[in-house]
Amino acid sequence: MCGIVGYLGKHDTKGILLDGLKELEYRGYDSAGIAVLQGDEFSYFKAVGKLVNLEAKTAGFSTSGFAAGIGHTRWATHGKPTEINAHPHLGESSYVVHNGIIENYQELKNALVAGGVHFLSQTDTEVIVHLFESLMNSGMEPMQAFRETVSRLKGAYAILLITKQMPDTIFFAKHGSPMIVGVNESDEKFFGSSDAALIGKCNRVVYLEDGQLGFVSRTGIHLENSNACVVPRFAALPESKLAAQKEGFRFFMEKEIYEQSEVLSDTLIGRLADEAIVFDELDPSLLDGINEIKLCACGTSYHAALASSYLFERLGKIRTSVEIASELRYKEPLLCSDTLFVAISQSGETADTLETLKMARAAGLKTLVICNVDNSSMVREADAAILTRAGIEKGVASTKAFATQMVVLWMFSLYVAQTKGAIGTQAMREQIALLREIPAVVKVDDGLHERIRRLSKRYLHGHGFFFIGRDIFFPLALEGALKLKEISYLHAEGYPSGEMKHGPIALADPELFTIALMPKNLLYDKTKSNVEELSARDATICAISDTPFEKADDFIPIAAHAHYMPEFFEMMVVLQLLSMEIAIRLGNDVDMPRNLAKSVTVE
Ligand code: F6R
Repeated sequence: MCGIVGYLGKHDTKGILLDGLKELEYRGYDSAGIAVLQGDEFSYFKAVGKLVNLEAKTAGFSTSGFAAGIGHTRWATHGKPTEINAHPHLGESSYVVHNGIIENYQELKNALVAGGVHFLSQTDTEVIVHLFESLMNSGMEPMQAFRETVSRLKGAYAILLITKQMPDTIFFAKHGSPMIVGVNESDEKFFGSSDAALIGKCNRVVYLEDGQLGFVSRTGIHLENSNACVVPRFAALPESKLAAQKEGFRFFMEKEIYEQSEVLSDTLIGRLADEAIVFDELDPSLLDGINEIKLCACGTSYHAALASSYLFERLGKIRTSVEIASELRYKEPLLCSDTLFVAISQSGETADTLETLKMARAAGLKTLVICNVDNSSMVREADAAILTRAGIEKGVASTKAFATQMVVLWMFSLYVAQTKGAIGTQAMREQIALLREIPAVVKVDDGLHERIRRLSKRYLHGHGFFFIGRDIFFPLALEGALKLKEISYLHAEGYPSGEMKHGPIALADPELFTIALMPKNLLYDKTKSNVEELSARDATICAISDTPFEKADDFIPIAAHAHYMPEFFEMMVVLQLLSMEIAIRLGNDVDMPRNLAKSVTVE
């Protein structure tokens, strides 16, 4: 995800900006840039790919004396990861960097273009600098023009802007995206979209609040909110960089669980119209001649594939099969050219999945990859790609990557339905409304987290866990079991609820822990009977549902929803938190479980 840095002072501006950007690398990005204003002279550099490319471009550049600099790492949302689309964006005599999304950029852009402004990039960000300059051209002072510009923006933003009209100054604004201003004893000013960029450079910081804007100059910080001046409230900076990257969370996994609401909003951006799913990245002919979908993946991504297969058949009305990549490779599969082969992978590098993708291509199938990492091997190999936009995932146990895969696959099942005319307008509207609910549904409720934390102490032993569910909740049960076993090292299995009586119920006793997924909106009574069968044999039951279940030993309540998809996503969060809290109580390293690697590039 994007990162922002800024510096105003007399030291090595280039070095300070590049250092700050390096500290934000962990967030993931695909291009980067800096702009420096010294007196009335601008220097700017942009590069696609890693920061070493930007470093190479800036090798011959240095500053001497006072300068204002801004820098950015961009993770593409509007427009491809190209140099032109990289920040900072230039107007006539100003540069801007921005994190977030300007929702009304098209409207603003149309008005500016009609007024004769020429745009270079495909980004939403560029409107900010042109709007600012057009307001200055109409006679406003820089601060007035900046204030007016910000008041016209809708969406989420953290912005830094520098302009020749007011050198030795950096303008800033924050709404919905993080931004921090720091100062040190030498009166240098620093900006960062996260603590990590500022640690070691300054000791006092202001965590800007939504709606705040202003500027820093040689003489200090001017801060305001709704036109009224605000006295900056300084706080001390944390000292550890790693702790800063975790933003106060105990583990990256926890941070990533909490981030899901934000990243799912990113996943949805630009892809939902009122009555249609929009995948600009797909060629409309992708589904021509396609009668079947074959989903293929490993691990958690396989669970996303399996869960979505219910949606492809139910909503997309298309025959769908699901394969574990390591199995598909050697089973001498019959691959038919009317099948769309869909590989799903967080990293885009998993060896088995990559090989099946190559196999499918070699057999003449059209291929699509659903992936979190642009330019990964799979994205380069496939005919088409949809990026999940989860941002970099550091915890080995996948959480937000799974959530974003599920949302992309759900949207893609609807895309298939709309392309094949298999869904009516009203049904599509309902599905889109449900999709829009999901970012709020996965927001972690503090009370729920605390309840799970307390309850976790009862689940640290036993001779095994069964996670059970029916329909799309069966793959979710598989995922819950995988999460638990990989970080707690306790034995856990996911099972379809209705299958328990065909064998596993023989294990039932008080030391067998059953985590029962009991959605109100999907096969509730059937699941309930299955859980009752286990309860009757004295298995210890922890039910997850919106409805208390009297035969359960423990109960984790979720909110009442009118459809099973929000129930799915809320239960997903419960399972992630439960496995994490159990693992923490057991004293395990949640982020780096034993024997596991984040990217499995061997067969
Ligand atoms: C489990 C987990 C793994 C991965 C699997 C595939 O939490 O993360 O099971 O899902 O190794 O990785 P990707 O999705 O990168 O292909």
